Amino acid sequence: MKNILAPLLAFSSSLSLCIADAVPWERLNKNDALLLILDLQDGLYGLARDFDPTVYHNAMIAHAALGKLFDLPVVLTTSAQTGPNGPLPKAILEMYPDAPLIERPGEVDAWDNPQFQAAVRAANRSQIIVAGIVTDVCTTFLALSLRAEGYSVWANVEASGTTTPFIRDTANSRMQAAGVQLVSLFSIVCDLMRDWRDTPGSSAVLPWLAQYYPVYGILAQAHAGAILNGSEIPGEAELVPVGGFGNNDTIVEGSG
Ligand SMILES: *[C@@H]1O[C@H](CO)[C@@H](O)[C@H](O)[C@H]1NC(C)=O
Ligand SMILES: *[C@@H]1O[C@H](CO)[C@@H](O)[C@H](O)[C@H]1NC(C)=O
Ligand SMILES: *[C@@H]1O[C@H](CO)[C@@H](O)[C@H](O)[C@H]1NC(C)=O
Repeated sequence: MKNILAPLLAFSSSLSLCIADAVPWERLNKNDALLLILDLQDGLYGLARDFDPTVYHNAMIAHAALGKLFDLPVVLTTSAQTGPNGPLPKAILEMYPDAPLIERPGEVDAWDNPQFQAAVRAANRSQIIVAGIVTDVCTTFLALSLRAEGYSVWANVEASGTTTPFIRDTANSRMQAAGVQLVSLFSIVCDLMRDWRDTPGSSAVLPWLAQYYPVYGILAQAHAGAILNGSEIPGEAELVPVGGFGNNDTIVEGSG
């Protein structure tokens, strides 16, 4: 019996070690979070080939717009932007004319630049939301450096781009192993919002989603349209329970 149990016991003690080592679950908090716009440069955009280019461009702009929605401090940085990597997109620059823009003359890992470090530290936030081009270099190097400095890091996986899905997945695995939270745009929005009744809540978030995450924003738009001037067509009544749902649907502020 002892011999049979020995490997199991060894396994269970290594399992509990893994669990003890795992990064604790943590929620994004708009008062603790800083948004980083990392090398989402016009020249580098062409390297982001693991997404449809239109979808990816929208994801970059949506990532930047998170700072507007939740009034987050924002730090922008670029790598060698007067060379082939180019400047940040006009749409992003115009969102944050007053945010620090750290133009790195050569450092690949943004953390190696003292002005960038100072800008991040000056924000005094413990949770860093980041997306960059390319995922395996700019995003991963900085995310690992931030983890080593004790920051919690949320990598927006939709807004970081690289050359292939294989390289993207490898980079994301590397970040995950270092305790970086790999998250979608919608996950970031809902975690920061917490509750549709908060501020910002549905009245600000639904119009934002209609612009940047239409699969949910247009859902709300369709719901509003149905309530404001909708009527059932034959067959629809059979799709709801006999006697209705027990309470009438109400329109939430902001979805009109
Ligand atoms: C930094 O944030 C911490 C925690 O929110 C706060 O206690 C501290 O006063 C802040 N420091 C500065 C310089 O704002
Ligand atoms: C509601 O829809 C009908 C049919 O399209 C249209 O004639 C009417 O003007 C609409 N009413 C409002 C308030 O939008
Ligand atoms: C739903 O709204 C209709 C029309 O305003 C009303 O007649 C009905 O009593 C409402 N049902 C419930 C469950 O509130």
